[in-house]
Amino acid sequence: MSIAQVDYNGLIPNNVGLGDDVRVKRALEKWHPGYINWWKDMGPDGFQESMVYLRTAVSVDSKGWAVFDYVRMPEYRWGILLAPAAEGRTIPFGAHAGEPAWQEVPGEYRAMLRRMIVIQGDTEPASVEQQRHLGKTAPSLYDMRNLFQVNVEEGRHLWAMVYLLHKYFGNDGRDEAEGLLQRRSGDADTPRMLGAFNEATPDWLSFFMFTFFVDRDGKMQLEAQAQSGFDPLSRTCRFMLTEEAHHMFVGETGIGRTVQRTCEAMVKAGIDDPGNIEAVRKLGVIDLPTIQKKLNLHYSLALDLFGSEVSTNAANVFNAGLKGRFQEHRLQDDHKLETAVYPVLKLVGGEIKRVDEPALTALNMRLRDDYTNDCSKGVARWNKIIEATGVKFALTLPHVAFHRHIGEFRNTHASPTGELLDAATWDKKKDDWLPSSADGDFIAGLMQPVVEPGKFASWIAPPKVGIDNKPGDFEYVKIA
Ligand SMILES: [Fe+2]
Ligand SMILES: [Fe+2]
Repeated sequence: MSIAQVDYNGLIPNNVGLGDDVRVKRALEKWHPGYINWWKDMGPDGFQESMVYLRTAVSVDSKGWAVFDYVRMPEYRWGILLAPAAEGRTIPFGAHAGEPAWQEVPGEYRAMLRRMIVIQGDTEPASVEQQRHLGKTAPSLYDMRNLFQVNVEEGRHLWAMVYLLHKYFGNDGRDEAEGLLQRRSGDADTPRMLGAFNEATPDWLSFFMFTFFVDRDGKMQLEAQAQSGFDPLSRTCRFMLTEEAHHMFVGETGIGRTVQRTCEAMVKAGIDDPGNIEAVRKLGVIDLPTIQKKLNLHYSLALDLFGSEVSTNAANVFNAGLKGRFQEHRLQDDHKLETAVYPVLKLVGGEIKRVDEPALTALNMRLRDDYTNDCSKGVARWNKIIEATGVKFALTLPHVAFHRHIGEFRNTHASPTGELLDAATWDKKKDDWLPSSADGDFIAGLMQPVVEPGKFASWIAPPKVGIDNKPGDFEYVKIA
């Protein structure tokens, strides 16, 4: 059987030869019931019996790896899927650059590698938990189906990390795999590991912002880990990235359709001023300034996920060959960064300045810059949608110092344009920049479910094309 083919005969679909790996197969089969219990408790609330039109991976080659069919989510075939091995692959960066890629865990980096895998793994079930109530307010069956597709794939990403833990980390790995099922997003005693994954996702605008901004952080982390000298992690992340692309599609088009609907309603009603919030809201759409506030919130939370701008831990994992840079293989330098520098935004004498830091310790900042660049392309596409309607408004990414809780700017207040403020000014202005509870109430009021095939809630435009080229009135979810 070629690596591209997936073995669907056992309990756990896989292309890693699990049938011949008795120890790991048993360990995963033991973990499986706990996972299903977790899914039933913490997965999409109220839709476990519904038939959902989902894609499942049947091979990992580049074309046509997915088949679409109706499935009850608890019966989704969560599998362990690695991208094909690259023959003769070498470690692409760090102190071991050029040596053969590791097929087993390098002993000296075991703890560091385990921590990376656990943190990545922890984010996957966290987002399912954060999104579990959203099915009940879906603006259409199309959107509901996309939510559930994202959810089952985050579940599969958890499987991907749990496989690595069981396969390569013995008893420690088993304990970590248990822990991944025990923590809960937002729980006071046993929260998920990273801040943004303990925030609420109260409405669909938040969901779209989350998949655009936070899943995109996921993409950047996966890109960096796809470069890893530890080959099983690299291959795992490379396949996860193919799924992640859909999550970002859901976010980008979700915001795009929301913005489009708002602008069309404004034009139709003859409202020129996007700041006339009351009038726009009466049209049953979300005013553009509130969309901007949601963007400000989710972008700033996502930036915190990159960690401190200057970090010796980031330098260590790079040096060790475990986590590279975004598109490391395309970068033209020595891939060791022993003497290179990188400009980092810092607070110097009460001002925000660019300061050259050793490139090795500035790797978080660098990945964050690549992320911001990626985000700004999506924002530009949203602005094209607005522009095409003739409405005069542009969405923008706030300054990286705005509303931060981690890193260089955590103890300061800054406006969305990067102006430093005292606490009193911040308190006065923050409801202009971040969603207020009144904004939240307004959005919550709009979140009326629409479950008739082909129909959409007032605040969002239909998609241009259906999933799997299905017609507009296709019944993506058969609600049970
Ligand atoms: Fe994921
Ligand atoms: Fe994702």
